[in-house]
Amino acid sequence: MKHLLKLLDLSPEEITGLLNLADQLKYERKHGIPHQRLTGKTLGMIFQKASTRTRVSFEVGMFQLGGMALFLSGGDLQIGRGESVSDTARVLSRYLDGIMIRTFGQDEAEALADYGSIPVINGLTDMAHPCQALADLMTIREAKGSLEGLKLCYIGDGNNMANSLIVGCLKTGMRITAACPKPYAPSDTVLEFAKAYRDRFSLTDSPMLAASDADVLYTDVWASMGMESEKAERAKAFQGYQINAGIVREAKPDVMILHCLPAHKGEEITSEVFEAHAGEIFDEAENRLHIQKAILVTLLE
Ligand code: CP
Ligand code: NVA
Repeated sequence: MKHLLKLLDLSPEEITGLLNLADQLKYERKHGIPHQRLTGKTLGMIFQKASTRTRVSFEVGMFQLGGMALFLSGGDLQIGRGESVSDTARVLSRYLDGIMIRTFGQDEAEALADYGSIPVINGLTDMAHPCQALADLMTIREAKGSLEGLKLCYIGDGNNMANSLIVGCLKTGMRITAACPKPYAPSDTVLEFAKAYRDRFSLTDSPMLAASDADVLYTDVWASMGMESEKAERAKAFQGYQINAGIVREAKPDVMILHCLPAHKGEEITSEVFEAHAGEIFDEAENRLHIQKAILVTLLE
C-alpha cells in the first residue's frame, strides 16, 4: 500500500491489516505503552474544506507517534493562487514524509500522488472519505465482534460517505443496502464495482425497506461541503430520508446507529435517536484517531 486515495484501491487483506493495527495502537494508547513509531517524520495536511475531526485527529495522531503535522490551509498556499497540483506535489515531496489532503475533486488527490514521491492520504474528497469509512468498520467490529455477514443500511445522499461505505462493507464481507433518492445515487464507479456483489448489495429509494433487519444504520448530511447552494432543493428531495424512531423499529433490536458527523439534527437524524446512540457515535469519532495512526504507520514507517 503506497497511498490511501480510496478504498477501491485496497485489498480486503490490507483493510483487515489496518483494522488490526488500529486496535493494537488503541490498546497501546489506552495502556500507556509507548508507540512512537514515526519519530522525526512529518505530515503536511492540506485543507481546501473545513474540518474538526480530521484535522485534530491527524495532528494529535502524528504527535502521539513521535512525529509532527503541519496544517496547510488551501487559501494560504500558492495552490489557492493557481500554482499547479503537480508542482506543489513535487515541492512538498522534498520537505515532507507524507501528505494528507482534503479537497473537492478526487483527481486532485490522485494527481498529488502521481506527481509526488511520498505517500498521499485522502482526508475527504467529493468522491470518497476512506479514513472515515475505515473508522466506521473499526467501530462496528469493536462492538459486534466481527464484520462478516452484518447488514449496514445507509440512508441519504449517495455522497463520499455512501461511496466509501459501499466499497468498505463489500470488501470486508458485510451486506449493505443504500436508500438514496434516485437523482442522488452513489457514484457510477462504485455501482459498477458493486455489481460483482449482487447478493450483498442493493440500492433502493425506500428507507423503510433498506432498514429492515439492519445491524447498523448510517446517515450523513443532505448537503455535503461544496453543495451548500443546493441546500433548499436537497431539503425537499431528502424528505423521509431520516433516521427516526420509525426507521429504527425496522432494524434489529440491538441496531447500532452511526454518523460520520457533523450532524444536522432534525434533518438526516432526529435528536432523540442521535442522543440515544451518542455513545456509539462518539466512539466512532474517537476511532478516527486510532485508524489514522494505523494508516500513518503503514504508509510512513
Ligand atoms: N467526519 C469528518 O470527517 O469530520 P470533519 O469534517 O470535522 O473532519
Ligand atoms: N459528506 C460530508 C462528510 C463530512 C465529514 C461532506 O462531504 O461534507
